[in-house]
Amino acid sequence: MTRPRIHILNGPNLNLLGQREPGIYGHESLEDIARDCAALGQELGLETALQQTNHEGALVEMIQAARGVAAGIIINPAAYTHSSIAILDALTAFDGPVIEVHLSNIHKREAFRHYSYVSTRADAVIAGCGAQGYLFALRRMAVLLG
Ligand code: DQA
Repeated sequence: MTRPRIHILNGPNLNLLGQREPGIYGHESLEDIARDCAALGQELGLETALQQTNHEGALVEMIQAARGVAAGIIINPAAYTHSSIAILDALTAFDGPVIEVHLSNIHKREAFRHYSYVSTRADAVIAGCGAQGYLFALRRMAVLLG
């Protein structure tokens, strides 16, 4: 039987994880996160597919492409979290659960990071847990889909 697919979508600059401000974002690369999510997904009976883009329109297209294909979306929209109504609208057009993840605690940082458009759609928000946040999101996704 095919396992429910979870699309794990990542926004700008997250391709630099592990190299970019490791004091804030940690030492794990996006490839490490993809591997850990795939392993946990296996345990939970979920298939994971991780993607990253530096472009807002491309992220909108990835969200649209998840329609009818993915059971749920885990998304770290990075800086677009705080600016993109287009990403919010695309997520609103997706029927399944959406979990928003941030490696850093956005509420402990600059005021411009405190507001998230995506949170008005997200079923859960995880912030400040580093790379582990993606794994928490996957566990929660299994509960929501169970
Ligand atoms: C981030 C937080 C955002 O404010 C920032 O622009 C990012 C990463 C995080 O994972 O902590 O690029 O989404």
